[in-house]
Amino acid sequence: MTEQELIELPYNHEDLEPGISAQVVEWHHKTHHQSYVNGWNTAEEKLEKQRETGDFSSTGSLLRSFTHNFCGNILHDVFWSNMSPNGGGEPEGALRERIEEEFGSYENWKKEFEEAAKAAGGWALLVYIPYSNELHNVAVDKHDQGAVWGAHPVLALDVWEHSYYHDYGPKRGGFIESFFDLVDWEDVQNRYEDVVGKFE
Ligand SMILES: [Fe+2]
Repeated sequence: MTEQELIELPYNHEDLEPGISAQVVEWHHKTHHQSYVNGWNTAEEKLEKQRETGDFSSTGSLLRSFTHNFCGNILHDVFWSNMSPNGGGEPEGALRERIEEEFGSYENWKKEFEEAAKAAGGWALLVYIPYSNELHNVAVDKHDQGAVWGAHPVLALDVWEHSYYHDYGPKRGGFIESFFDLVDWEDVQNRYEDVVGKFE
C-alpha cells in the first residue's frame, strides 16, 4: 500500500481561536492525528510482511491496530475540514431540509447531537446511511466502537480529551458550544450532497 500522509490543515493553528487554542490545534494535528497516520502505515507494513513470510501469528492485533488507526485518521480528516475560522451559523439547502425532515427541526437535531457529544467516549457524528437512506446521529467510543457499517460521516466532532481538556478542563459542554461557532456548514453540506449523489 502507498504510504499514507497527514493532511495539511486548511487554516493556521491560531485561526480557530478563541474556540480552540493554537496550541491544542497544533498538538492535536501534529501529534495525535499524526500518530493515527503512523499507526495505519505500521499496521499495513506489518500485514504485508506477514503475507510475505507466511507467519500470520500477529493477525488479530494487527487488524485491530489497522481499524483503530484507519478510523482515527479518517474521522480527523472530516473534523478538520468541518471547521473554518469563518464558521458558525446553521445549515442551508438540501441538508437543512433533510435534517428538518428526519429530526423535526434543526434545534432538535442539534440537541441530540450535543447530547451524543457529551455521552461519547470518542466522537459525535452526523452520518448519512445509504443502506436505509437516512441521516443519523451516532455516538462513537474510541474511533470505531458504536460505528455503523456503511455510514458516511458528514459532520464529526472529536470529544477525546486531547481535543478540549487543555482549553476547557472538564467543561466539555463549553467546547461543544464553541465547536458550533466554527462549523463550516458549506463543507458539511458538500459532504452530504456528494455522498447522496453517489447513491441516488
Ligand atoms: Fe483527536
